[in-house]
This record gives sequence, C-alpha cells and structure tokens, in this order.
Amino acid sequence: MARALVTGGNGFLGGHLVARLLARGDEVTVFDGAPPAGGRGVPDGVRFVTGDIRDPERLGAAVAGAEVVYHLAAVVGVDQYLSRPLDVIDINFSGTRNVLDLACRADARVVVASTSEVFGKNPAVPWAEDGDRVLGSTRASRWTYSSSKALAEHMTFAFAEQHGLRASVVRYFNAYGPGQRPAYIVSRSVHRALNGRPAVVYDRGAQTRCFTYVDDAVSGTVLAGTAPAAVGEVFNLGSEVESAVGEVVELVGELTGSAEVPSGVDTRTAYGPAYEDLARRVPATAKAQRVLGWKCETPLREGLARTVSWARSAQWWLDLPDSGAG
Ligand SMILES: NC(=O)c1ccc[n+]([C@@H]2O[C@H](COP(=O)([O-])OP(=O)(O)OC[C@H]3O[C@@H](n4cnc5c(N)ncnc54)[C@H](O)[C@@H]3O)[C@@H](O)[C@H]2O)c1
Repeated sequence: MARALVTGGNGFLGGHLVARLLARGDEVTVFDGAPPAGGRGVPDGVRFVTGDIRDPERLGAAVAGAEVVYHLAAVVGVDQYLSRPLDVIDINFSGTRNVLDLACRADARVVVASTSEVFGKNPAVPWAEDGDRVLGSTRASRWTYSSSKALAEHMTFAFAEQHGLRASVVRYFNAYGPGQRPAYIVSRSVHRALNGRPAVVYDRGAQTRCFTYVDDAVSGTVLAGTAPAAVGEVFNLGSEVESAVGEVVELVGELTGSAEVPSGVDTRTAYGPAYEDLARRVPATAKAQRVLGWKCETPLREGLARTVSWARSAQWWLDLPDSGAG
C-alpha cells in the first residue's frame, strides 16, 4: 500500500488508474483541473483537489505526503493541439516542471505519462525506446504536443541527473476503452455509432495504429511506479498488433450494429498543413516485457466489445458533444 497522487486523475487513463490503485489498497489523491463530468461523483476513498498544475502552491499541497506521483495531467488530442497549441506547450511543459520539482522536494517517486507521438513520423517501425524522433516543421501545430511531451521527458531525466529524482516515463500507444473523450478513433466511432451517426475516417483509413486497451496501459503504469528496476527508465506501453484505422472503424460498426456508412475526410483539404498524419505507429515492447514483466494482453476485438458494452449504459457519455477534429 502506498500514498499515491494522480495528476489528471479525472481523465480517461487517470480515472482507470485511480480505480486500480484503490483496488490494490493505495491511499489516493487526485489533482485535476476539472471535477468529474456528467454528475458522476468522486470515487469513494479519493481525496480530490481541483487545481491547475501550473499553480505550484495548490499543487504543492496535493503532493505533500505522496510516496508516488503518477503525472498524467496534460492537454491531449488533435482537436486540442489544433485549437489550443499554446496551452498544450504551457501546461505540458510548465505544469510538468512543477510536478517534478515538488515531487523531488517531497522525495516522492514519479511516473510521467508520455506518448508515442514523441517518435513523430520516424518511418523505421517498430520503435524501440531509444528510437529517433523525426518531426516536421514548427508551422505544423501537430508537433507542439510531441515536442512538449519530449521536453517533459528530457526534464524528467534532467531532474533525475541533477537532483536525484526517482522517476520513470511511460509512453502510451493509442490507448482506448470506457470513458475516453469521444475525440479519438475508437471512442469517437463508438460514440457516433451509438448516437446513430456515421463514423469519420481520415484519409481512407489506411494508416495503422497499435490500439492498447486501457487496462493494459494501467497495468504497465502501476508496474512503472512500483518495480525497483523501473527507476530511471522509459517504457513503451503499447500493443504490438498493428491495425489499419479503417478496419477498426469497421469492427466498431459490426460490434455496435451500426448501419451507417463511414464518411471520409481528406485532412489536407479540411485542415491544411497544420495537420499531419502518420502512416504507421508501432512500438517495440521487449524492454517493458523484460524489465516490468508487462505485455499488452487484451485482444482488440475483446477490448472494443468491452468499450461498446460500457458505452451502451453510459448515457452521460453518449450525451457528450462529439469533440473530434472533423
Ligand atoms: N489516451 C492515449 O491514448 C494517450 C496516448 C499517449 C499519451 N497519453 C498521455 O496520457 C495522459 C492521460 O491522457 P488521457 O487520454 O487520460 O487524457 P484526458 O484528457 O482524458 O486526461 C487529462 C486530464 O488532465 C487534466 N488537466 C489538463 N490540464 C490540466 C491542468 N492544467 N491542471 C490540472 N489538470 C489538468 C484534464 O482535466 C484531464 O482530466 C496524458 O499525459 C497524455 O498525454 C495518452
């Protein structure tokens, strides 16, 4: 049992992580900018602190006494980095600096949530943890998120080197599952199908991703916060099974029983050069298997079926606006 702080604990991954930590007997504090949506209450046993991670005083009060800090608060999503690029940089960079600084002073161990996006458009898949970052122009807002998260990773290791912070970084790869904001391929397709609307497929859906069920991502995160050998390391937490986005949308159609034909979006025409898509995104996970004993266990069909089944009974979620970028 540990005293844990989860920043962004009201978000998609954070919410699932909080449930897992509570189930294993941890004492959990959540620090998040927003209280639970849709009239849902704070989970029993959780101390909830509302605040902005850029506010060191408020954050400091939440960090006090924590033994492990899981830092998940961030601005995430294509719709967000297209409409709020400055917030993406500011929150993911300045906020993370505050988290690391305060955790260091409290002598807490830290797990920082990062992303497959740090690899950018490196064509040499699968990406090992030390693979190169290949990015586009600073005129494309897409790279604000990748760059802000890469800087957060650099900062994490810089705190470790200069101040002895005990920290690990986990990179998620297209996590999906119950409760995710309907702004991503899976969540948006499920949301639209159950609301009787056609799914939206970008650029014919030939691009591939490795969809990772949220329970698997959470297992890896907890291991990164507890395994002694994880300190000072970065891990890819992703499925190694590559799926074309178009196939996943079809599978969601089958599982939801949707009769709607997906509508196509040409991203160049719709968003111009600010939007840049990646052809393939595939992790190498040998390191997570070796050091953490972690592997993505949930087959895509099963994870999607669980997500659809959850969504059918979550009216508050079905009533959310469709927040996809197109
Ligand atoms: N979902 C994925 O597939 C994925 C992939 C790669 C990386 N990640 C990373 O995982 C983490 C969690 O992602 P998620 O999908 O759960 O996103 P999410 O948007 O559901 O959750 C993020 C949470 O952070 C909170 N937050 C945002 N700005 C804040 C601020 N200034 N102060 C305090 N709280 C703030 C939000 O209110 C939200 O609850 C993020 O760090 C994200 O970059 C997620």
